Amino acid sequence: MKYPLIKIDEIPDEGAKVVPFFGREVHVYKANGVPKAVSNTCMHFGGPLECKEGKFVCAWHGAEYDMKDGQRLKAPAPPHSRLMFLSTRVEDGVLNYVWGE
Ligand code: FES
Repeated sequence: MKYPLIKIDEIPDEGAKVVPFFGREVHVYKANGVPKAVSNTCMHFGGPLECKEGKFVCAWHGAEYDMKDGQRLKAPAPPHSRLMFLSTRVEDGVLNYVWGE
């Protein structure tokens, strides 16, 4: 099954764009040219994330995450926590969330 997230040409070359996802949000962006989609949910208490200087930074208490792999860089998110990435596939110029395949 698949669910379209965004057209590839609408993903910014720098930074990230927030798109709706089943009543929630995901950040879509490019890491080394590869499109990615990650839940806009901090692993501390679920706060929203902002894309700042190549990192995702939580607006609530300041936890930071690496945009390459979602690994936590700074507390108060738990050590070794990681942001939730969606499984995706590009088809016909569209980035899709895919599951159950
Ligand atoms: S909810 Fe993100 S740092 Fe607290």
